[in-house]
Amino acid sequence: MAHYRFQFLSAGFESGLFEALAKQPGMTKAEIGAKLGLAEQPTRVLLLGLTAFGLTSKAGDAYRNTAVVTPLTGDNDPIAAALVPYHQHITYKTMGWFWESLKANTNVGLKKVFGDESTTLYERIAADPTLESAFHNAMGAFSAMSSTELVKTLDFSSYTHVLDIGGGRAINATNIARRWPHLRITILDLPTVAKTANERLVAAGLDDRVKAVGLDAFSDEFPTGADCVLFSHFLEIWSEERIRKLLQKASRAVGDGAGIFVVTPLQDDDETGPQHAAELSAYFHAVASGEGMVYTPREYEEWMSEAGFRPAGRTPVGELINHIAISGVKGGA
Ligand SMILES: C[S@@+](CC[C@H](N)C(=O)[O-])C[C@H]1O[C@@H](n2cnc3c(N)ncnc32)[C@H](O)[C@@H]1O
Repeated sequence: MAHYRFQFLSAGFESGLFEALAKQPGMTKAEIGAKLGLAEQPTRVLLLGLTAFGLTSKAGDAYRNTAVVTPLTGDNDPIAAALVPYHQHITYKTMGWFWESLKANTNVGLKKVFGDESTTLYERIAADPTLESAFHNAMGAFSAMSSTELVKTLDFSSYTHVLDIGGGRAINATNIARRWPHLRITILDLPTVAKTANERLVAAGLDDRVKAVGLDAFSDEFPTGADCVLFSHFLEIWSEERIRKLLQKASRAVGDGAGIFVVTPLQDDDETGPQHAAELSAYFHAVASGEGMVYTPREYEEWMSEAGFRPAGRTPVGELINHIAISGVKGGA
């Protein structure tokens, strides 16, 4: 019944009820109905589920939030607050087409919900500011956490210029540039995203060293001149064939001795988990791209070697997230 429970959670959050109860605990059904602009019976249905599923409690006529929803009130947990709308608007309906997506070997979920012309979620949201901000708010909240860990994990001290491929709205690049003041960074992302990244970089006062270039990573070559390539939360979106081409393209853009970091969620080398790898793989296949999944570090090392990067180690990224940085160096046996 998880899909029912999520709908109650999402309704309680998006309606503003959890926020209202945090400010005014003990509101009655009639007060809540008036606050949300709901008729009596829908208010009753909503409160029945919220209470039955442990999201609110009822004592006499008074409703209160339980501890479960505290992260969704005030500024308690920006990741939880960004993830509820993300799952409601982007993954909820689309994941209903999971089996069809497996059978058709493409992201039927995205096409059924957002239109047949949609090929990837990233292109689709670029044409829809509401969806784009639901996606990038969630991605931004997640990136803010993961990038703090990433900056502690990756060592850029010996490099001068990093290509941050699929770098999004410059969250990683901003943190990396602040941590390594000698470094130049070129973000490559789709044009609408690159535009926002450049605006944020100007606001952060980093635009002299960090720039975003709008392009399509598949149809355009990468600019040359960098001595390090970062693929953070990007390669897993795509098929094995496309990843190998992207790694080869990266290899063409840099010289011998250049570094590479692939930061990604990981699937265990023996293909038994973890659960997060399974959830994300289903999302890439049925929604985001119709072709990606969470691969094993061993596969990335093979593909890196094939593209001319000698694997140079695996480092866990953070304790909260089960991600890994796989590093390599171009050339050198
Ligand atoms: C999951 S986000 C990763 C963002 C960031 N690198 C991070 O680690 O948080 C994937 C990014 O890939 C970008 N992207 C998707 N398709 C692309 C393409 N064809 N060319 C360039 N960037 C693309 C998206 O716009 C998005 O910013």
